[in-house]
Amino acid sequence: MSAQVDWLKILVLCKDNVKARLQSYLETATASEPALGIGAGGDPMKPVDLIAEKAIVEVLQQHCSSFTLISEESGVKEFGDNPAQYYVTVDPIDGTTNLVRGLPFYATSIAVSTMPTLSATVAALVTDLFHDVTYTALAGKGAYCDGKKITPSPVVSLEAAVIGLDLNSYNVKEIAPQLSSLIEKTKHIRHFGANALEVCYVAEGLTDAFVDIRGKLRVTDIAGGFLILKEAGGIITAPEGHMLSANLDPKQKIKFIASGNEQLHKKILSLVRLKC
Ligand code: IPD
Ligand code: CA
Repeated sequence: MSAQVDWLKILVLCKDNVKARLQSYLETATASEPALGIGAGGDPMKPVDLIAEKAIVEVLQQHCSSFTLISEESGVKEFGDNPAQYYVTVDPIDGTTNLVRGLPFYATSIAVSTMPTLSATVAALVTDLFHDVTYTALAGKGAYCDGKKITPSPVVSLEAAVIGLDLNSYNVKEIAPQLSSLIEKTKHIRHFGANALEVCYVAEGLTDAFVDIRGKLRVTDIAGGFLILKEAGGIITAPEGHMLSANLDPKQKIKFIASGNEQLHKKILSLVRLKC
């Protein structure tokens, strides 16, 4: 990463702008607002998604001469003379349904990579927009929550663990049986509705693991949380146990298991029965 670009500073300015632009909007937002077509990631776009995206792009353009935007809403867009210098993967609002329903759990997620692959991610920010809590990470420099270093939980007992599980899927008849052994062994299953933030909860040790094997989540939702969890010292792999790899493309879907520690991760992997 170029020494001239202070990505953390830029990402914080991006989320500040998102918060500022959302403030007046949030006072009048309703769940019944019509969608504005389908976003690049394949889901209906709400006005709030576009307001947040615009706020991020405005700041990026002010502070970085060239970059490629990879956004859940507008898709891939190149800016400047050398767009391959940085790839900025954005989910402007993760948890749009929560936001428009007034449920206080939604986030902005931004990740910066030097190549269009998840593994080349070098800087990340996920902000809980309702509670104004910000997670950040730089590759090799650890992960932070509002400037304080974070580490995941040491809990290894499935009975004690609080485990996030995303079962939102039209395909639940196929997905649920793959997770039934895990569910049987646990007592505290959660899903709050913004997976980027839920992975940060694992990074901070608020929860102990998060499992999303639906094949429905886009890489744009997870790129920020991926680096934050890894830098915090947590584990994130494909459900088969191998390294999580993906191209940074708004249509790219991803399945993953994220855990606070290796021991718990192995237990979860052994219980998830993937359909061959
Ligand atoms: C959604 C959230 C939700 C998950 C959905 C995602 P979005 O993100 O992360 O928890 O169940 O699959 O699409 O659409 O609000 O960015
Ligand atoms: Ca979104």
